[in-house]
Amino acid sequence: MKYFINSTAEYHQHDLNTLGWELTVCNSLEPVNSPCRRILSSPDSFGCLLYIFLKTIIPMDKVDTVLEIGGGMGYLMRDFLSLNPAMRAKMIDISPFLLDKQKEVLPSSKVDFELADILSVPLNNLTGFDLVIMNENLGDLPTLVAAQENQNDSGAPTDRIDAKLDHFNKQYNLHLGMNQSEHINIGALETVEKLCLAGIRYIYLSEHSCEAAVPESMQAYLSFNTPGIPEMISLKGHQEFTIKFSCLQKIAEMLNYKARRGAFADFLPLDLSDKVKTALRLATPYNDEQEIIRQFVYDLYKYEYLILIRGDES
Ligand SMILES: C[S@@+](CC[C@H](N)C(=O)[O-])C[C@H]1O[C@@H](n2cnc3c(N)ncnc32)[C@H](O)[C@@H]1O
Repeated sequence: MKYFINSTAEYHQHDLNTLGWELTVCNSLEPVNSPCRRILSSPDSFGCLLYIFLKTIIPMDKVDTVLEIGGGMGYLMRDFLSLNPAMRAKMIDISPFLLDKQKEVLPSSKVDFELADILSVPLNNLTGFDLVIMNENLGDLPTLVAAQENQNDSGAPTDRIDAKLDHFNKQYNLHLGMNQSEHINIGALETVEKLCLAGIRYIYLSEHSCEAAVPESMQAYLSFNTPGIPEMISLKGHQEFTIKFSCLQKIAEMLNYKARRGAFADFLPLDLSDKVKTALRLATPYNDEQEIIRQFVYDLYKYEYLILIRGDES
């Protein structure tokens, strides 16, 4: 199999100067008067709603140290620190622009900052954190893009890629590279393996999923494909890929982690009012608010989270 490597590193390091083009679910809930907040059954910021949800699964009061990788504007960590002021935090981000934004939002007395690509951070530097957060960013990590048979370009060096895929297939009983047209979330696989091998007690991951499905209760209002293999998403200046969470879950479980998986709607519960139903049922939205509601509801079900708990933790 021939692959090309899709990397967003260059874009994040040198070109990114706003997150406006890539409105994350976290950022879309940030303005207090956001139309997205108004359609939740408990209107609040993303970080607060996530923290409250995690508390039902993880003993958050026992989390003393938290590492957030790729924290964007820093809003999620701001909320975590406001709900748990005793916690110490570290932010690792590849983007100098976004790391500066995080420094503006977060108190320097409680937070350390490191400009780094998570794939280059040695495993030893990750040990010791109670909790690691990676929200809406796994799809930014390198992806092996399956090349068309008739593509003349030489692609990425095959030996190194074959060795990596061989490692994951043998070690974790995966079947990477068997389907000729399947792109592979290699950066996400490597990062999850590294976090688990570093022995992090609790790990929260989330991203657009290629395996998410619309629940029966929503099928009258929403539909999307569930291809089961990573899909390309074109964004300003870069491309990212949806995530095949079953592979990440398998790696973690083989490394003795327990997993809990679901859609964002689990902790961002929708108030399915007549206004929301109308916006979802229209063939074409009439106004901006309806357009925003449609995109947000799609994201609530298309994004998955994966919470990993080290085997010896309750
Ligand atoms: C789509 S934004 C998500 C931001 C934030 N977590 C949120 O939910 O709003 C992706 C974030 O991951 C960071 N990022 C992308 N690739 C990275 C890498 N290889 N190492 C560290 N951070 C990375 C970006 O700079 C950015 O902060």
